Amino acid sequence: MLHIDALTKRFGEKTAVDSANIEVDKPTMIGIIGRSGAGKSTLLRMVNRLSDPTEGSIVFEGENITDLKGAAKRNWQSRCAMIFQQFNLVPRMDVVSNVLHGTLNQRSTFATLFNLYPQSDIHHAIEILDRLGIAEQAPKRAEALSGGQQQRVAIARALMQDPKIILADEPIASLDPMNAQVVMQSLRTIHEEDGRMVIANLHTLDTARRYCDRVIGMRDGRIVFDGTPAQLTTGVARDIYGAGADFSEAATSTEIETLDRSAKQAAEAVA
Ligand SMILES: Nc1ncnc2c1ncn2[C@@H]1O[C@H](COP(=O)(O)OP(=O)(O)OP(=O)(O)O)[C@@H](O)[C@H]1O
Ligand SMILES: [Mg+2]
Repeated sequence: MLHIDALTKRFGEKTAVDSANIEVDKPTMIGIIGRSGAGKSTLLRMVNRLSDPTEGSIVFEGENITDLKGAAKRNWQSRCAMIFQQFNLVPRMDVVSNVLHGTLNQRSTFATLFNLYPQSDIHHAIEILDRLGIAEQAPKRAEALSGGQQQRVAIARALMQDPKIILADEPIASLDPMNAQVVMQSLRTIHEEDGRMVIANLHTLDTARRYCDRVIGMRDGRIVFDGTPAQLTTGVARDIYGAGADFSEAATSTEIETLDRSAKQAAEAVA
């Protein structure tokens, strides 16, 4: 379905992503983990074609998207929606108009200029908001919503594009734990019910474990792990984050400690 082959991005001397290979044969929910600077955002940005690869290729459902330009590139970007840590909504615009922005690629400049949306699109936007549990927020300005609600608006805007893939770059990094769970669960439900592929950069290991079918670990631009949450042992996690790394995220270190403890207990039980 998605074939990423030897994908590389260099910024001058710096190799941000170093020959990444990823094969996805069916819609999967994938979490990408790694330390700050490991290349997670650069990888997602190349898949979305926000950033051009230096080398390598991206093929989706048989179509080479590596070198798409102009309208073809915009078409790809609407099939491969992106969600960001900072939501990227228009703060003073109402929620439903923010969601309708997801159809921008498909509309004429004239319609866009005068904020003309077909009635059916407006209904659809409300339906999507309802599905995400925030339909009653539709008339409010985006800036009046909580972070978790704003991120769900961003997800709704992405769904408006009816994307095959949803790319999420640290979608919950700015949210409190409760909102973080709601947002991750929304992404999980969209993956399961609609069969959309989701690839999310996540800064905590336990989130990747809990919500993803597959976890990819990056270190210094390279993919150093690609497997199921069960295969992600403490040793592997340490390797991904680097020996002696200070696991700055509480959840991550907790998870590591818990793993350590259960591994120790398992070893003691065997002995
Ligand atoms: N536009 C750019 N110009 C120069 N260097 C860049 C650029 N974007 C990223 N880099 C460098 O590439 C490397 C990977 O950055 P990237 O943002 O992909 O990491 P990340 O894994 O997303 O980190 P974080 O967890 O902090 O978001 C870093 O060393 C970064 O400084
Ligand atoms: Mg990043």
